Amino acid sequence: MTSQTDLIPEPGAVTVRGPGFLELGPATRLAAAGEGAERAGRLLRATLGTATGLPLAPGPAEEDDVVRLSVDPDAGEELGEEGYRLTVTARGVDLVGGSDAGLFWGTQTLRQLLGPDAFRRAPLPGRRWRLPLIEVRDRPRFRWRGLMLDVARHFMPKDGVLRYLDLMAAHKLNVLHLHLTDDQGWRVEIKRHPRLTEVGSWRSRTKFGHRASPLWEEKPHGGYYTQDDIREIVAHAAERHIRVVPEIDVPGHSQAAIAAYPELGNTDVVDTASLTVWDNWGISSHVLAPTDNTLRFYEGVFTELLDLFPDEFVHIGGDECPKDQWRASPAAQARIEELGVAGEDGLQSWFVGHFDTWLAARGRRLIGWDEILEGGLAPGAAVSSWRGYAGGIAAARAGHDVVMCPEQHVYLDHRQDGGEDEPVPIGYVRTLEDVYRFEPVPSELTEAESRHVLGTQANVWTEVMEDQGRVDYQVFPRLAAFAEVAWSALPGPAERDFAGFEARMAAHYRRLDALGVGYRPPSGPLPWQRRPGVPGRPLEGPPPNR
Ligand code: ACM
Repeated sequence: MTSQTDLIPEPGAVTVRGPGFLELGPATRLAAAGEGAERAGRLLRATLGTATGLPLAPGPAEEDDVVRLSVDPDAGEELGEEGYRLTVTARGVDLVGGSDAGLFWGTQTLRQLLGPDAFRRAPLPGRRWRLPLIEVRDRPRFRWRGLMLDVARHFMPKDGVLRYLDLMAAHKLNVLHLHLTDDQGWRVEIKRHPRLTEVGSWRSRTKFGHRASPLWEEKPHGGYYTQDDIREIVAHAAERHIRVVPEIDVPGHSQAAIAAYPELGNTDVVDTASLTVWDNWGISSHVLAPTDNTLRFYEGVFTELLDLFPDEFVHIGGDECPKDQWRASPAAQARIEELGVAGEDGLQSWFVGHFDTWLAARGRRLIGWDEILEGGLAPGAAVSSWRGYAGGIAAARAGHDVVMCPEQHVYLDHRQDGGEDEPVPIGYVRTLEDVYRFEPVPSELTEAESRHVLGTQANVWTEVMEDQGRVDYQVFPRLAAFAEVAWSALPGPAERDFAGFEARMAAHYRRLDALGVGYRPPSGPLPWQRRPGVPGRPLEGPPPNR
């Protein structure tokens, strides 16, 4: 093992300052001066207090046996926007953040150093809370370290999202992209359009397995977040320095919305009045009609969303919009003529462009899947590069910011082993090591172009993840490898020390155990993690390198 600690993600620099320990006990004080530090202190006292039973009472910074938290903007240059310096001596702990966020990430390192039981929610008898005498200087490689949760295909109840925010924080991830709408469900309350959730948030049955599977789960599935739930999620995230980026997918992936409001569909070619929320997987042919009514409807949706989500970015989807209905629809064809755009692709680009301008006028930035590049974008718009690297390369070269999330590397719905026991196997085999060797910045980019790579994101599509256990299984342990890719200054993919990472994972599995995460064990799925007889869609061979 090359690393001197078991920390994940691996920090920038670690100096061990001798043998021995600092032991935290009932008399240990927590000194947090200044607004940013107070906030981090409250959260640290709550989490460590729960795990250890120690009061960590407020105390003066000058004495011994104190955990001192502070924000030092002057150290920002050295530590970076989200960096921190953690020093443990026999006298106490000094944790300095270059910003509030840096201080918070430092508290996550402190928690890991206390051992796996620091991740529990009640103290175990006889535990001692020892910190190695150490100095850690650390800062992230990327400022966008994201996780996308598809809460549309299978709803993740609010508690599950709050839990995932806690898990993200423990891995120093800082962007939660919520995929809130799709053909199979609409998951956010919109007060001016109540049928979106009354009708659109549930389906009467669900395909069990890949769409070719003959199996059905013959019970209703659904759920949605009220606006207060969203406020709670956003605030819980903000306490942890995590941004929440909402996605409303348009103009494709919209069957649930059309089932709720049939006039949103292409009514001159299909009887949208009889449409229901989709119970199967795939890409629905039911897409939004390119009418003024549709634009006004979604402006209303986004107006409510801007009130709920303060982040600068709003994701509008824009992926996988089949053009068959627009080709067949006289109304859509008349619209193409009237707008003078280049066919159905031009119509799609006009639709995206409308919301690009609309969001920019409200001080926000549009982000969408890489299909939105087709037809040109406003300068401030950003791209989630999912169909390999190509979209991200094109976007960066055109001066757009990019989040790299190529499906062949960081789609965590893809199976993580080639074995027979893998539950509902989808896609290519992407092992823990494959994710560890993922490089977000394409080598084709120049130095200047690569500055447009904001960071990277792992995406979790949930067609075959019907509950928390299935999500945990697909996400972990690979999210730990992803977190290290997003945070740590790793060498090129071939030079990465996977053996060292695996050695640190021994401690990390124990942290995940303490957190109650149902990860895939290195030896393969546990009996109850299998789904015998439920067909998936495994793809063979190495994924295409694109
Ligand atoms: C996507 O996977 N359709 C973005």
